[in-house]
Amino acid sequence: MSQGSAITEEVFGRMPDGREVKIFTLTNANGLRARVTEFGAILVSMETPDCAGKLADLTHGYDTLEGWLTNTSYLGATVGRFGNRIANGKFSLDGKDYSLATNNTPGGIPCHLHGGLKGFDKVVWTGKAVGENAVELTYVSADGEEGYPGTLTTKVTYMLTNQDELKWEAQATTDAPTIVNLVHHSYWNLSGDPSSSINDHILTIAADRYLPTDAGLIPTGELAPVSGTPMDFTKPTAIGDRVDEEFDALKFGGGYDHAWVVDGDGLRLAARLMDPKSGRVIEVSTDQPGIQFYGGNFLDGTAVGKNATAYAFRTGLCLETEGFPDSPNQPAFPSPVLRPGQTYKHLMVHRFSAE
Ligand code: GLA
Repeated sequence: MSQGSAITEEVFGRMPDGREVKIFTLTNANGLRARVTEFGAILVSMETPDCAGKLADLTHGYDTLEGWLTNTSYLGATVGRFGNRIANGKFSLDGKDYSLATNNTPGGIPCHLHGGLKGFDKVVWTGKAVGENAVELTYVSADGEEGYPGTLTTKVTYMLTNQDELKWEAQATTDAPTIVNLVHHSYWNLSGDPSSSINDHILTIAADRYLPTDAGLIPTGELAPVSGTPMDFTKPTAIGDRVDEEFDALKFGGGYDHAWVVDGDGLRLAARLMDPKSGRVIEVSTDQPGIQFYGGNFLDGTAVGKNATAYAFRTGLCLETEGFPDSPNQPAFPSPVLRPGQTYKHLMVHRFSAE
């Protein structure tokens, strides 16, 4: 272990059925601190300094395991087996039709969202400290769980480096053909004040194109240029500047809630988020084709989280690196199919700084 970094492990609480759930605390040489629990492979908190060196927790969430059990917004979670939406909850694979729960109805149109009724965000993973300041979490999803075919063996590793990076790395293998799209779903508010709006945060997305959707937030299949639209974040722009413009994507999402096509391939910068008040910055890099920018439009103050904060409209935002939504039904999109012998891999790196 590098000098100054440390990992500790404690009991976080018990599930209603009595199972013990652990929480791991990763601290790096510069004092940044990440807490990760076995429940939902969730990032419970992420503390980073502002430009004056003051630490604050930047993520929405809960203080206790009991709180996390009420998490309906996927705060901090590892989402799976298929993150984002699948039209009508249906897909076919090798000539067989599969039906998944339709647990979401944007615009009144039913779809499958984030793995179904009890996705990977609501199960207990098995965690252990590994290597340099990292925790590895394992979950084996049974064949047929939530309607998906194949036993999926999933590993997610969170690592906090002394370069102030939080790496989230997912891997999966299967014993029968299936579909996979694992997604990390933290809600960020870089100000450290989770009751303040994220509309003043300055966002850059390294994407010339985005995926327009229908009213049910299902991609139409087109990769549309962002140029000349409120979806253009190729230059640093305040989120609130154009969020109320007349534009279909913003109307359907109730604000920003779409996938962008990350330029290039391999591990590359997908987005940069900056809070002008605290100076805090997150740079998100990924090896995935897309990134969903969700502006917290469904937060309505009913979820009461850490320090009794009611998470209000647009007080947190998600930058979810991923495969494209509805890719199981869209042959032109990069394929989400995983077959026996193959390994699904997804690396997402958050780099924290302040300016
Ligand atoms: C995703 C979706 C949003 C919403 C949130 C969870 O990011 O894109 O539409 O469902 O998850 O509330």
